[in-house]
Amino acid sequence: MNFTRLSLVALILFSMESCQPEKNESTPVAMPKDPHSYSIPTDARVTHLSWKADIHVDTKTIDAVATWNIEKSEGADLLTLDIKGLTIKEVFLDNNQKTEFRLSEKDPILGQALAILIKPETKRVAVHYSVPADAEAIQWLSPQQTAGKKYPFMFTQSQAILARTWVPCQDSPSIRFTYDADVKVPNTLLAMMSASNPQEKNEKGEYHFEMKQPIASYLLALTVGDVAFKPISDRAGIYAEPSVVEKAAWEFADLEKMIAGAESLYGKYQWERYDLIVLPPSFPFGGMENPRLTFATPTILAGDRSLTSLVAHELAHSWSGNLVTNATWDDFWLNEGFTVYFEHRIMEKLYGHDYSEMQATLALQDLKETIADLKGDNLSKDTKLKLDLVGRNPDDGVTDIAYNKGYFFLRLIEEQYGREKFDAFLNNYFHDNAFKSLDTDGFIKYIKDYYQTKNNISLSDSLFNEWIFSEDLPASCPQPVSTLLEKVDAALSQWKADGRFNPTAAAQWSTHEWLHFIKNLPDALSAEQMAALDAFGKFTESGNAEILCAWFVHVIKHNYKKAYPRMEEFLINTGRRKFLSPLYGELVKTPEGKQYAKDIYAKARPNYHFVATNTFDKLLN
Ligand code: BES
Ligand code: ZN
Repeated sequence: MNFTRLSLVALILFSMESCQPEKNESTPVAMPKDPHSYSIPTDARVTHLSWKADIHVDTKTIDAVATWNIEKSEGADLLTLDIKGLTIKEVFLDNNQKTEFRLSEKDPILGQALAILIKPETKRVAVHYSVPADAEAIQWLSPQQTAGKKYPFMFTQSQAILARTWVPCQDSPSIRFTYDADVKVPNTLLAMMSASNPQEKNEKGEYHFEMKQPIASYLLALTVGDVAFKPISDRAGIYAEPSVVEKAAWEFADLEKMIAGAESLYGKYQWERYDLIVLPPSFPFGGMENPRLTFATPTILAGDRSLTSLVAHELAHSWSGNLVTNATWDDFWLNEGFTVYFEHRIMEKLYGHDYSEMQATLALQDLKETIADLKGDNLSKDTKLKLDLVGRNPDDGVTDIAYNKGYFFLRLIEEQYGREKFDAFLNNYFHDNAFKSLDTDGFIKYIKDYYQTKNNISLSDSLFNEWIFSEDLPASCPQPVSTLLEKVDAALSQWKADGRFNPTAAAQWSTHEWLHFIKNLPDALSAEQMAALDAFGKFTESGNAEILCAWFVHVIKHNYKKAYPRMEEFLINTGRRKFLSPLYGELVKTPEGKQYAKDIYAKARPNYHFVATNTFDKLLN
């Protein structure tokens, strides 16, 4: 076949047009198109990636070749990939035949479509490209920004749609592929990916990776740094900077028990090894479930193992998310709601019902606050589980709704028809949908069919309408009961009544009880009360990031100046968005606070990853 230039452009224009999501009720489609990807998998879809990359730590750039194996439908002329900010140099088909490609207009959120001309017999497409220093997924850290202060560090964060800023790919969670990679780094550093990983450095600084189970693009991950490894069991271990690795391995000593506990609940762990890397403090999330290698923030190293539910959460994603994947970001609650449910079940199994109920109670309070905030910001529609993110950044959907409204919905079904039935359902759900993507309608169909055929129970449409397609929190929301937190409530009431603290009771409190205490302090507090509270709980001097964050909200509200230096240091040195949001959000409520926030932000911004600056630039620049 011979393509003229004109026919190529016509083809591309046509395909670009079909990228626009159209809501045409009369057209039957098997799977609704992902509004956050330009790819057209019905024409040509990727099945395997071979990635060859040179990581230039000095210039903060990457030179790479991404070779994709593809499957195409008959007559398809184009392979369409997503890119953002990449420089595409050349594209070759199969055995080094150079081919033509075109880029669409730049969209500020989605980036560009890369349309590659393919032939009827094309099996492989090799894209030669480079990644600029400001790739949105990547944070490059100077030695000063690491614990060791000697070597640079880098890590990627691909979820939700940033994989396209370092690999040209079909960047939709509904498309899966296997991968292998050959990565070259300076030989003082170790490279790790969401794949099989080395446990020590080698002289050449060349590392080979394999991911044999098919994954979605948002789970592509790479990190490079001066990192050591410590095993926890035969199949699990901890990576971290050498000065952090012992502390981290101590904190996560129960990792193997968590994996075994998870397997006993919902079936075999499908990814062979489970390792975790503790990154430097600028990592923008608590954790990221990159398959075989969870990325985690050092802010969970509390020194008392009190914040390890985050590991249970990321581990649970090995089933909910990595195995059964949300088809689009509008269905994000299928990833996160199921994962929070699973996380609580792992914690209950390991540490008991009182512990998990305490966490559920904290979650419900957070959820109610999130709903009130969203309503206050005119975003009531984002309180539905099924989101509508067309034309928006999928990051807008990352709220407590997906996590905790999702959790309480699943818990409601568990409570209504019994745990045994729900566990059997989940086992089947993970088994039947393994290595597939599911949208919300697919989930509804699956669970209705399951309960009907297996239990002769018909789940009513109104249940799904109320929880998934309606705003707000339904009245049917389960009510966790926490005897531990009731004791904290009693201590709070006593203090409110007579100003006396109960140090003997508080001596037994864990991080979670303290958090409940801090979060439920009255709105109005005098300077004396703030000082007395600080003397009682030693909050300002705490090494626990959760406690600090909750406390600093009051510090800002009540202008408790004594804690400002510590708060400033915290904001400059921690990049975890969950902590930055409430603090900057509280600061901007007054003109002086806003100026102070801007001053801190100017110093802190160079330490933050793009997903954090993208959020706070809007608020503070
Ligand atoms: N997958 C998420 C993080 C994420 C979500 C990154 C959406 C980008 C877009 C991860 O599993 C997560 O939920 N992390 C939480 C952990 C918590 C709920 C235990 C976090 O980072 O705080
Ligand atoms: Zn999660």
